[in-house]
Amino acid sequence: MSDISKNNNSNINNDKEQAKDKALRKKANYISAKETSSISKRNKKIVDSFEAKRKRKNVQESEYTTTMRDPNNVVEFDDLHTYFFTDIGTVKAVDGVSFDIPQGKTVGVVGESGCGKSVTSLSLMQLVQRPQGQTVKGEIRFNDGGGKAYNIPDMPDDKMQKIRGNQISMIFQEPMTSLNPVFRIGAQINEVIELHNPEMNKDAVRKRTLEMLELVGIANAEGVYNMFPHELSGGMRQRVMIGMALSCNPKLIIADEPTTALDVTIQAQILDLLRNLKDKINSSIMLITHDLGVIAEMADYVVVMYAGRIVEKGTAHEIFHSPSHPYTVGLMESKPAINKRVERLYSIPGKVPNPINMPNYCYFRDRCNRAFDKCAGEYPPEIYLSDTHMVTCYRYAEDTKGEVDK
Ligand SMILES: Nc1ncnc2c1ncn2[C@@H]1O[C@H](COP(=O)(O)OP(=O)(O)OP(=O)(O)O)[C@@H](O)[C@H]1O
Ligand SMILES: [Mg+2]
Repeated sequence: MSDISKNNNSNINNDKEQAKDKALRKKANYISAKETSSISKRNKKIVDSFEAKRKRKNVQESEYTTTMRDPNNVVEFDDLHTYFFTDIGTVKAVDGVSFDIPQGKTVGVVGESGCGKSVTSLSLMQLVQRPQGQTVKGEIRFNDGGGKAYNIPDMPDDKMQKIRGNQISMIFQEPMTSLNPVFRIGAQINEVIELHNPEMNKDAVRKRTLEMLELVGIANAEGVYNMFPHELSGGMRQRVMIGMALSCNPKLIIADEPTTALDVTIQAQILDLLRNLKDKINSSIMLITHDLGVIAEMADYVVVMYAGRIVEKGTAHEIFHSPSHPYTVGLMESKPAINKRVERLYSIPGKVPNPINMPNYCYFRDRCNRAFDKCAGEYPPEIYLSDTHMVTCYRYAEDTKGEVDK
């Protein structure tokens, strides 16, 4: 036996070393097989009860109808909690999110990667990865415009299908993965129109598909109708996706990073297109992006998310002219600006906390350069700076305002 392995053996047999090793593993979030198996047993129980509720048949409408707080809103997220029950613990991807999407307006949702933007929108579509992903608490009220409002998390699958794609549609980040590579473009749009308008005949469906392709600025609509997705450029594929999303005149369009995969000129064209189409069919847009430039150009209201919660929200004017949360201020500083010369763009130090083990104090405190004593306390409450401008930061609390330099 070599000296090294002798050494290793004596180390492992040493109780002290073992205890140290265990502590180190705990610190590194190591989970033993036994722990994993008990977590997954517990998870199964939880998700099974949610799934059973979802699969119910012949549910009375009164069980999932509700009333809007303000009838001018299309959607109201109210204290939404969406968790993923994984074998290594519960990921609190969205943990108490509330905001409204008013009729005919664009609401921008910003925040760094992994903060829960996509999970918020997927919860609205009931498309969170099941069974591990579940909306465990809160309401998402959807106004159908015909005098009825639904609470989406309570809706059974068969009812949800009528809303998804028809009244709310989604434009995904990566058009190549959302279009089916083995079907022609025309057939894919036809399918969407047929599904939601069973009364239309084949010719009417084809006509509508061609109209949609023209509407989104595809010059050779007849040609593209017979093409496969791989024969189109990225920008054209994104236009097709937008055409498909708008083919049923939805009340709400969710655009999740619609231009991230495109170059800047095509990006500008697609944003223009979205804006014009929105006005034409008078729908609302929930625009998800980490590009503040896109938000500035498009949004009426802005919601800033951090680690599954909203840290600041307000009108676009409020957020861009008086950003208040240190995280929003950091985001603004890390955006390049014309006529401002800097050696190097600002980057927010540190990283987002682990969503499985969230601290019970402000999630941003450890990265915040403006933290003070009070920030050691529990998660800050919502503080309203105006009727529409909300921030969760102790710097703006009535009782601690005087303690900090603003
Ligand atoms: N299927 C899943 N299983 C487990 N965790 C998930 C799953 N999907 C998302 N999450 C977790 O939920 C959190 C929020 O993810 P989400 O996709 O909403 O981020 P995002 O804000 O959209 O980020 P990006 O800007 O990169 O798209 C992340 O911590 C992610 O790891
Ligand atoms: Mg995302």
